[in-house]
Amino acid sequence: MNTKLKGRDFLTTNDWTLEELEQVLDLSFKFKQERALRVPHTNILPGRELFMIFKDKSTRTRNSTETAMIQLGGHATYLPAEATQISHGDTAKEIGIIFSRYGDGIAIRDDIYLGVGQKYMEDIAKWADVPVINLESDWDHPMQMLADIMTIKEKFNNDIRGRKFVISWAYASSHAKPPAVPQGLIMMMPRFGMNVTLAMPEEFKLHPKAMEIAEKNAKEAGVNFEVVHDMDEAFKDADVVYPKSWGAYFYTDNFDEMKKIADKYKDWIADERRMSLAKKNAIYMHCLPADRGKEVTDAVIDGPQSVVYDEAENRLHTVKAVLALTIR
Ligand code: CP
Repeated sequence: MNTKLKGRDFLTTNDWTLEELEQVLDLSFKFKQERALRVPHTNILPGRELFMIFKDKSTRTRNSTETAMIQLGGHATYLPAEATQISHGDTAKEIGIIFSRYGDGIAIRDDIYLGVGQKYMEDIAKWADVPVINLESDWDHPMQMLADIMTIKEKFNNDIRGRKFVISWAYASSHAKPPAVPQGLIMMMPRFGMNVTLAMPEEFKLHPKAMEIAEKNAKEAGVNFEVVHDMDEAFKDADVVYPKSWGAYFYTDNFDEMKKIADKYKDWIADERRMSLAKKNAIYMHCLPADRGKEVTDAVIDGPQSVVYDEAENRLHTVKAVLALTIR
């Protein structure tokens, strides 16, 4: 495959052309098929090292990325930030330069504080000579985005242009989840030709810049991007529904207030009645972890329209493709 991705950072999907994203997806599908046939891929990145800095918890992202490096013949070092000297003064410059001398890639999850994570990754990328990969920031979750679009292509046999994709806020009580996934979805899905509906109570608006990019991308792709404040209206005739919670970060920075606001909207749940408003063959997606019984009923997430396990599996094939194409 002739790509210009070697050595490139992957900090947000908008930095890569549609053609480049499609190249990654082509390789992801190939890796998925070949894994089913037990074709080894250990000759692709032999001896390469990926440093993975995590400032937040993870089940899927950490383990898919670590497994991807092993399957490609390399190695990944899991670095919870508290196990490093970052809090004692190691700067983005030091991390970027030093890890570039030791290894071949740097991957980072830094999604807790608004205005912090994406900037931190960009600062490291300025100094690093190796690819820097975003494993979820306050701005975007590009690796999740690739697994999501791969899953949609799979389920609709690549016939996705003009389909209605709904990202809806849903109630959760666990914590104020980062806005990276809904922002990533509204920015990227229009580029693949999907009509995107964003549904949320007024207080759960997203970053204005992400909204601007979503509108621009939709216009360029000749598709619709609409915002509604009614979950039923959003689900009507949808092909894909992606109901998930996020914090009211662009309304208040007070977490107690965020929780009080969210508690007003406990009826924003993906249940069987709402699923019946969507098209018959609509799929239910969630990046996980989900708040069962709050964001979604068991009947929906465990039901026939749910594709959450394929979506989670595709995290492995897509991250493997990104690492194979970017790491030298
Ligand atoms: N979807 C996702 O990013 O999952 P983790 O938080 O478990 O990595």
